[in-house]
Amino acid sequence: MTDALPLVLVSRALPPGWLDRLEGRCEMLVGDADVAGFDSPLLEALPRAEGILCLLTERVDAALLDRAPRLRVVSNMAVGVDNIDVAACTARGIPVGHTPGVLTEATADLAMALLLSAARRLPEAARDAREGRWSTWSPTGWLGTDLHGARLGIVGLGKIGAAVARRARGFGLELVYASRSARPELEAELGLRRLLLPELLATSDMVSLHVPLDEHTHHLIDAAALRSMKPSALLVNTARGPIVDPDALEHAVRNGEIAGAALDVTDPEPLPPEHPLFARPEVLVLPHIGSATRGTRRRMAELAADNLLAGLRGRPLPHTVNPEVEPRARAPHRLGPSRGER
Ligand code: GLV
Repeated sequence: MTDALPLVLVSRALPPGWLDRLEGRCEMLVGDADVAGFDSPLLEALPRAEGILCLLTERVDAALLDRAPRLRVVSNMAVGVDNIDVAACTARGIPVGHTPGVLTEATADLAMALLLSAARRLPEAARDAREGRWSTWSPTGWLGTDLHGARLGIVGLGKIGAAVARRARGFGLELVYASRSARPELEAELGLRRLLLPELLATSDMVSLHVPLDEHTHHLIDAAALRSMKPSALLVNTARGPIVDPDALEHAVRNGEIAGAALDVTDPEPLPPEHPLFARPEVLVLPHIGSATRGTRRRMAELAADNLLAGLRGRPLPHTVNPEVEPRARAPHRLGPSRGER
């Protein structure tokens, strides 16, 4: 009977092998590889689902949870969980898993790539070279900003912010950070100095964002914050799009309030091609690829699978955002003849 294995909804098809460890441990109903959100067969199966493994493009809210009374675990294949109503999950006793750690280095690499790209104007220079505007070596062509000696303001000093600091130190940047809590051990290790956010914004040559998206950080970088930055400043965002007000950013670069921005995340995602930010030569926009290396994405999928399996077994998740929730094993009457899973 259907009681033999718990039903898991995997919101999007993943490459062969990434979820091998789920084989034989659950029944999987898998959504379309290229369509964001839960497709109709998955939505119809919600009443029977005991687990969900989803991506950051899927919204898991109270309305969805209400359709899934047997749900015992939500596993997000992402470190950020702003797509999930964690409070609603907690209220229903559902642990929520996420994938910290495994994507730290890849995301920090991309933040550095964006920083270098913006500082040295790589997209503009590459486009000009390709399109025939490279007539000679020019002493004044494509002039950028030195990283060496510039001040980098890191907003949010979690795992990824710290990994960016480690890399930036090697480039000779002066490092300051703003964070809810002080990190004295990192200050000592990396020569970081903690500032309040207004001072960090007003004095940094480059600002890189590494805070999670929540009610406190939504539009943290708004018109006033952008106006307070140096006209020569560059903004890098590899965290979440809505941390920056996109209209205020477009206004700020158009009016020279800051010199440029490099964004791996936008609001909305995808950013429509006709969005005015795409028309600004000082703005580089990438399609949210911070963790997009083959090794990292596979490790994220494997960690998401481990979180899911732990939840299905009624055990603590290796990485959860609501540890106060005690995972529930299957109700014994649903286990059928083998009462094994506990
Ligand atoms: C990616 O953005 C993630 O949160 O994992």
